[in-house]
Amino acid sequence: MLKPIFTATALSSFILLSGCSFDQSGDDKKEPKEEHPSSHHTETAKDDTKEKDSKESAQRQVEVDETVKPAQAGLQTLANPGSIPVLVNKQYSLPEDYKPEDLIYPKVDFIFQDKIEKRMMRKEAAIALERLFQAAEKDNMHFAGVSAYRSHQTQITVFNNYVAKDGEEKAKTYSAMPGTSEHETGLAIDVTTHDGACAAQDCFGDTNEAAWLAEHAHEFGFIIRYPEGKENITGYKYEPWHIRYIGVDAATEIFKTKSTLEEYYNAVPVEAVDK
Ligand code: DAL
Ligand code: ZN
Repeated sequence: MLKPIFTATALSSFILLSGCSFDQSGDDKKEPKEEHPSSHHTETAKDDTKEKDSKESAQRQVEVDETVKPAQAGLQTLANPGSIPVLVNKQYSLPEDYKPEDLIYPKVDFIFQDKIEKRMMRKEAAIALERLFQAAEKDNMHFAGVSAYRSHQTQITVFNNYVAKDGEEKAKTYSAMPGTSEHETGLAIDVTTHDGACAAQDCFGDTNEAAWLAEHAHEFGFIIRYPEGKENITGYKYEPWHIRYIGVDAATEIFKTKSTLEEYYNAVPVEAVDK
């Protein structure tokens, strides 16, 4: 049976429209640009590329299963959780019973020895990670994995522990509510330097490995998923260590345009559009 879908394109049109109708600030920079067909003749090749990119992103669809009752307002359940470039965030949740089918253990070092759940990734991502770590070694950059796949149950425990430590509001700036963590897809991993220092800590951002990762992750299909300065779009604090596999083409586009997976899908949340 075909599941009904709701597209990010439609959603973002709504966001733009509602942003304009209710914006009383008079700041015309926020107005969507009007189409000027006659000016197209004078545009450069670079502008054409930009226009093509923005048309492509407008066509990319976040597929939502509308038969699932939202667990909370503004949260929709994804119809295609197994898609490699799937957008999982504070708007789009994995189905509660989702478990990736092709989890394997990537042959890379972790900061622990045990063969446990958080060492696993989906096959395509695991192979890409092995290539990334090997390429890094050639450039004298030494990485280790910290935490990759988490089951839904594990994310419940992780999130609840952070809420107990910091309170819900603060916890939500750095930890995903169960069902909305990319770690549950098997396509994300937190990495650090091989000595394990700065694991999931801000100081990782100051290492040579972090600089290398930011420059080269896309060549292997990964993005820095929560970049600095994009907190209002991704909904999370800067995490230089959290990389997400989406495939080389998408990752390269996001790298070159200095954007995010939300922007790739033209699915920037309302709060960010209004800012
Ligand atoms: N730290 C990221 C946002 C997660 O919990 O998935
Ligand atoms: Zn992470």
